[in-house]
Amino acid sequence: MTTFVEREALKGCWYPVARSNSVTDAPHAVRLLGEDLVIWRDHHDALVVAPDRCPHREAPLSIGSVEGGVLTCAYHGWGFGADGTCVGVPSSGPNATIPPTAHLSCRKAEERYGLIWVCPGEPTMSIPDIGQENDPAFRRINTPVDAWATSTPRLVDNFMDFSHFPWVHTGTFGGAQDPFVPKIELSQLDDVFFGYQYEVEAANPDEAIAVSGSEEDTVHRVMTTGFALPFAVRSTIRYADGLEHILLLLSTPVDDVNSMFTFVVWRNDDHSTDTEEIIAFDLAIGAEDKVMLEQVPGTLTMSRTGVVNVQSDKPSVEWRRRFAEFVGFTE
Ligand code: FES
Ligand SMILES: [Fe+2]
Repeated sequence: MTTFVEREALKGCWYPVARSNSVTDAPHAVRLLGEDLVIWRDHHDALVVAPDRCPHREAPLSIGSVEGGVLTCAYHGWGFGADGTCVGVPSSGPNATIPPTAHLSCRKAEERYGLIWVCPGEPTMSIPDIGQENDPAFRRINTPVDAWATSTPRLVDNFMDFSHFPWVHTGTFGGAQDPFVPKIELSQLDDVFFGYQYEVEAANPDEAIAVSGSEEDTVHRVMTTGFALPFAVRSTIRYADGLEHILLLLSTPVDDVNSMFTFVVWRNDDHSTDTEEIIAFDLAIGAEDKVMLEQVPGTLTMSRTGVVNVQSDKPSVEWRRRFAEFVGFTE
């Protein structure tokens, strides 16, 4: 049986795997859809993404070193340059013919929103467009790419769901929320994201003042949350004073039961608050989700009858329905 990460359709999608600033002058190892990859920058600073396996005797290339844009394998010193081209086999001397099979077969890579995105196959989807990236009223704040011991569909299911807020997020913003979830209407939010709008009363503890810009005990948030297949979720938060806080929640499958997670924030504030202070509250919220999700075993079933759904699950059920169709799961 095909495991979740072996689904062919997933190979045509883009996945954020690292912060742009985390790949500088050394090889960087990541695991994506069950495949180990190495990333480095060539002499023009262009990204090279290749299987983390030397074609000579299969040493991980990520334990090698990079100089002048050439990655040197740690085992016998073969060198690999731009586009994964093998540029040197020391044991054969400087004028030797390089075997054509010595070149690496590279994956496609792009840099957007301060992140390195990789597409393992021929791209069939685009990186979701976030208009605020080019809007001078907004600043972008990046956060670390973190390892979560949970299946990626569980992350997306969680981000599309707000009925867990008053249970999981009592240590941050969830304590003031009514657990009752009114009927949810889903719609196309823009060209990219499909989701819903809702309003919540959010607790506003001292740690949240920097992010909400308010000193009240609770703040009224108008929110929209939507997904773009396969795994991107965008949550926008609008406060009464016009402050907008946009979160792009990005989950990447490492394998069937492990993920990378990062989020990117765009805000139209006056830049007076330090970025670290802004993201500290969102990081604390993410840590609450992580504690919960890492205790839920296995992958999320794609079967509609495999778990029980109620009305508040409508958004995550719709994501799951479209995702299952996209990757070709049949019940
Ligand atoms: S294993 Fe890489 S050079 Fe031999
Ligand atoms: Fe959450």
